[in-house]
Amino acid sequence: MSVTAPVAKRSATSPLFIPADLSDVIDHAWQLTAQIPGYLLENEAKFLGFLAAVAPRDGAIVEIGSYRGRSTVMLAKVAAHYGLGPVVAIDPHNSPILLNPDGSNRFSSYDDFLQNIRLAGVADHVEPHLAYSTEISPAWRRPIRLLWIDGDHSLGGVKADIDGFLPHLVPFGVVAMHDALSNFAGPIRVFVEEMLRSDQFGPAGFVHSIAWAQFRPADGAAFRGQRAKLAKRAAKLIPLVEEGKELRGFKKMRFKLTRSRIPSFPLSHQAWAAQLDPTTTP
Ligand SMILES: C[S@@+](CC[C@H](N)C(=O)[O-])C[C@H]1O[C@@H](n2cnc3c(N)ncnc32)[C@H](O)[C@@H]1O
Repeated sequence: MSVTAPVAKRSATSPLFIPADLSDVIDHAWQLTAQIPGYLLENEAKFLGFLAAVAPRDGAIVEIGSYRGRSTVMLAKVAAHYGLGPVVAIDPHNSPILLNPDGSNRFSSYDDFLQNIRLAGVADHVEPHLAYSTEISPAWRRPIRLLWIDGDHSLGGVKADIDGFLPHLVPFGVVAMHDALSNFAGPIRVFVEEMLRSDQFGPAGFVHSIAWAQFRPADGAAFRGQRAKLAKRAAKLIPLVEEGKELRGFKKMRFKLTRSRIPSFPLSHQAWAAQLDPTTTP
């Protein structure tokens, strides 16, 4: 697919410009993404592709947790197509959960990751860092247009990622976190307690297990009611998640029922755009 200037079109419901070829670009990126092992669902990957295209133009995409490159390829393919900044892909590639459950450091996902971004034709648009996010954040100085957190899912891990990179997010940029509706303590707690309850953020929602919020430090307070409504439902999951333990029996049923009451539909590009439009007020 060639890198061409997008033809912008105005959606019926939002003045946010959606490139006319966005659906085709995302579908093509998904064909490549789908070949890479990982846990990101189709709707989630396509939502990331949407964010990669419509988040403010200036800055990098920072990805924390790349594994074999599934989300990396979607983000980089779309960003490269529209001539937007690189994907900074941070991962030590030694996951104790996915690769080294015996506590050793024997297996690495790095070679697969490099091969996958090369085969997808996006190696030039990805800046890999073989490191923990906490090794990169202290020296980080560049603006970020999209912060994608899919690394250490513990409460301390997600908090460190938000604290380390949020100061560099540009206004109207987006934070997206994976597995916020799965059995992990970090993403859901940080989303509810530090994002939905903060006036620095405006519109927010879920797309499957991705929790997202737009950074709107100037007018986030106007969205307080909308965020509070979502927080009320999402907070009910917090006492049900068990860090590091598998949910079973009655607790698992309660978790699934509580989760089913949280709106997390894969809406259309127009609907997402209407929410992320800088001129939108609640
Ligand atoms: C669920 S996988 C990421 C999946 C990937 N985003 C995809 O779409 O396939 C989680 C990854 O986070 C990495 N990770 C864990 N802690 C991290 C940290 N503090 N900084 C960066 N990466 C981390 C692990 O090595 C692992 O590869």
